[in-house]
Amino acid sequence: IKTIGILTSGGDAPGMNAAIRAVTRSAIFSGFKVKGIYRGYRGLITNEIVEFKTQNVSNIIQMGGTILKTARCKEFETAEGRQLAYDTIRQHGIDALVVIGGDGSLTGARIFASEFNFPIIGLPGTIDNDLFGTDKTIGYDTALNTIMECVDKIRDTATSHERLFFIEVMGRDAGFLALNGAIAAGAEAAIIPEISTEVDQLAELIQNGFRKSKNSSIVLVAESPVTGGAMALAERVKNEYPGYDVRVSILGHLQRGGSPTASDRILASRLGSAAIDALLEDQRNVMIGISNDQIVYVPFSKAIKNDKPINRDLLNTLRRLSI
Ligand code: F6P
Repeated sequence: IKTIGILTSGGDAPGMNAAIRAVTRSAIFSGFKVKGIYRGYRGLITNEIVEFKTQNVSNIIQMGGTILKTARCKEFETAEGRQLAYDTIRQHGIDALVVIGGDGSLTGARIFASEFNFPIIGLPGTIDNDLFGTDKTIGYDTALNTIMECVDKIRDTATSHERLFFIEVMGRDAGFLALNGAIAAGAEAAIIPEISTEVDQLAELIQNGFRKSKNSSIVLVAESPVTGGAMALAERVKNEYPGYDVRVSILGHLQRGGSPTASDRILASRLGSAAIDALLEDQRNVMIGISNDQIVYVPFSKAIKNDKPINRDLLNTLRRLSI
């Protein structure tokens, strides 16, 4: 391997730039050439590739988003699209790829790697924290802190008006942001997809008299067809319990923005650097993760679509602290 291509794909996440910097600098440090691929897999099809030197990644560790841009590329899901991508890779003399992204991006990487027998290393870059085999994904900690700050602000209104707020947070099919955001912000409850089929979380909440010692309440709701989302839950409460003064707030894309926290910068720097070690060790088709503070290599097949479990102790902690 002489030349490494790097791209970011799927939803942007704070810390992706720190990862780009770490991969680029570690690669150059080890004697590789680096090519930056713009707009994710789309850039491989449309041939948007430039050589990256160490200065290309100066002054970006503190920036949210991704300087390489990102996209969700439908064409790459077709065999024809992937063939075009492979042709571009050959044309640029790229011998290995580092892909920074979430579940969908690593799924694309897995298919491409096996189709063309091409070495790819994945880095978990998503605010959702839904990749199996790593304790945290790049961007998750920053999004969690953003959620906490937003809930702190909404609490002022909730308390002053004595209202019940349903605050919807991102996470796709996972409840990590909702559950940990609720604990961090001192919310009364979190409604998460992981246990939605086991219990009617809303009924349980109301039956337990979750406002017994309080005049206002905040419930974090994970976006997901399984929870139904904050709007639907609020409608249910309005119909079934007209006594409550209910409001909904959907935090949306502000959760994906902002300067990464120290924790995300360090995580991205360690993972990015480890991606190059992995290539030097002839690893391929693995995602780099961190488990118990140690770098681990997780095969793509394990990392993706694997229903990473939530820690049930957190649910108990939240319940106990919201009395
Ligand atoms: O995967 C990150 C994420 O922000 C999810 O939490 C959310 O469901 C989705 O992306 C939103 O995607 P888009 O920005 O394409 O609407």
